[in-house]
Amino acid sequence: MPEKVLTNKDLESIVDTTDEWIYSRTGMRERHIAADGQATSDLGAEAAKRAIEDAGISAEELDLVVVATLSPDMFFPSTACFVQEKIGAKNAFCFDLGAACSGFLYAMDNARAQIASGAVRNALVIGAEKMSTFLDWEDRSTCILFGDGAGAAVLQAGGEGRGVMDSVMGSDGSLAGLLSTPGGGSRNPISHEMIDQKQHYLQMQGREVFKHAVTRMTEAVVQALDKNGVSAADIKCFIPHQANVRIIDAISKRLKVADRMYTNVEKYANTSSAALAIALDEAVKDGSITKGDLVVLTVFGGGFTWGANVLEWGK
Ligand code: UT7
Repeated sequence: MPEKVLTNKDLESIVDTTDEWIYSRTGMRERHIAADGQATSDLGAEAAKRAIEDAGISAEELDLVVVATLSPDMFFPSTACFVQEKIGAKNAFCFDLGAACSGFLYAMDNARAQIASGAVRNALVIGAEKMSTFLDWEDRSTCILFGDGAGAAVLQAGGEGRGVMDSVMGSDGSLAGLLSTPGGGSRNPISHEMIDQKQHYLQMQGREVFKHAVTRMTEAVVQALDKNGVSAADIKCFIPHQANVRIIDAISKRLKVADRMYTNVEKYANTSSAALAIALDEAVKDGSITKGDLVVLTVFGGGFTWGANVLEWGK
């Protein structure tokens, strides 16, 4: 996480909001904000270095670096190439994956498939975001919701247990307009007019997104359990996308797993594709997940995109 913390109280002096409103509607208390000049790849590289150290391998042993992000350093080259340079992963091929907040799970599944095919032995999967650059700090309905941060995991061939098991993933492009950054790309290129209309900032129909997030993540978890031949009772820890504690509570209720649902949205707000990776890391460090435990990850984001997978923690 970047050093600077922005609390709900701090936000009260930026937009017309209150700590009480934000906490009661989202469960968020604070979020971290990257420094000026600190780019997404800087956050991603820091997380990557720690993941590589944890895995006990060298950066040269990586065959693949994939960065899930919706806030890249630049349109191109990929943020993954900048991370590669920063960590010295000179033998890896590198690319970014765009699936908005669902990116880390999609990237994890991509790495899993490449390892299963035999093409890759060591993959570094990173979720990294500097959301603060792409927020309208005059729009109270969005700027309070997001934070910056990064998380990373090394996936390796072999090892004990079942590792990363099958995923369920889905998308619905017909709902793209409910959550997007409409300006700055080929559809609506950079112009003074586009910027005056603030279309280069994230826009969201929050209430609609909320409903779809609950339904899709709940369905995806049920399908992922079924696909992998395990039941909710077998799962030690459920890690959902950290967008709103009320979304997480609604999923917990439907699945009846409130006692094993992991949340850290209070501290970091919604860090988009980094959220799952950060929560997974914290869950391992605080002992919520230990060797041999079955874990379910589930995500939802712009696109719309969603998914869930099951993994057996191997370390
Ligand atoms: O990562 C991708 C997934 N993202 C999500 O899943 C986010 C999903 N959506 C949400 O989490 C919620 O819909 C929000 C937190 C964005 C909003 O909560 P809500 O309970 O759906 O509130 P609302 O949008 O219905 O707004 C209620 C009221 C509105 O006022 P009126 O029209 O009722 O007078 C808003 O103008 O709250 C007002 N409002 C605020 N008031 C104080 C909106 N933002 C704020 C604010 N502070 N920051």
